[in-house]
Amino acid sequence: GGEDHLPEVHFSFNGPFGHFDRASAQRGFQVYKEVCSNCHSMRLLSYRNLRELGLSDAEVRAIAATVQVTDGPNDEGQMFERPGRPSDRFHSPFANEKAARAANNGALPPDLSVITKAREGGASYIHALLNGYEDPPAGVTLMPGMNYNKYFAGHQIAMAQPLSSDGQVEYTDGTKPTVDQMTRDVAQFLTWAAEPEMEQRKALGVKMVLFFTVLGGLAYAVKRKIWADVH
Ligand code: HEM
Repeated sequence: GGEDHLPEVHFSFNGPFGHFDRASAQRGFQVYKEVCSNCHSMRLLSYRNLRELGLSDAEVRAIAATVQVTDGPNDEGQMFERPGRPSDRFHSPFANEKAARAANNGALPPDLSVITKAREGGASYIHALLNGYEDPPAGVTLMPGMNYNKYFAGHQIAMAQPLSSDGQVEYTDGTKPTVDQMTRDVAQFLTWAAEPEMEQRKALGVKMVLFFTVLGGLAYAVKRKIWADVH
């Protein structure tokens, strides 16, 4: 991130009892699908992983089927296109890095599979970055095709503000799609994507603390008893 401190944002997964807000993560997936996936791949995810967010089998199949996947070779040795299946990885917007750079003014949109782990600040950084676009301060000249962002390291970023107006994505669960809400939701989704096992990890941590507290108390009681007669 940049030098500026990230604004405090509360996420459901913060703290030792943190959990994912699945409704938020589902909306975040919708934001990713409709906006971010035009430029960013998420190559470590498969459509079937969306089941863990609470999407039904039918929903997952329908989402997968919206993309065309190159498969093969078939019996005739030919590659062919077919609709995506739940077992397929998320479809990438560009064939390779060269094509990705060519479409983005020379810059490479990073794969977002583990971006919340790759950037300091995680979800808070994603939220801050997406809300951190401003006019450049007096005296700062932007390089051609670049945008000013308070929270991006170096402040000049090739990505134009991807979520800039309320209602850009239409939510179906009654949540108001303000820019702030959409950026929180996509940060929630990207955090789940990077660490889907976080809830089990935290639950285990809580059990460990309980276990060692009880064990420690027991050890102390035993110690008192054993040494009770020593004066
Ligand atoms: C960079 C997220 C939409 C093009 C990034 C970075 C993140 C991100 C986290 C890395 C910033 C860093 O290095 O610290 C998102 C999200 C999106 C979105 C969550 C949807 C809400 C888009 C779209 C495009 C795009 C639609 C293309 C039109 C890029 C490019 C970079 C980038 C070219 C590299 C910027 C640079 O290195 O200067 N994006 N992005 N992004 N994104 Fe996006």
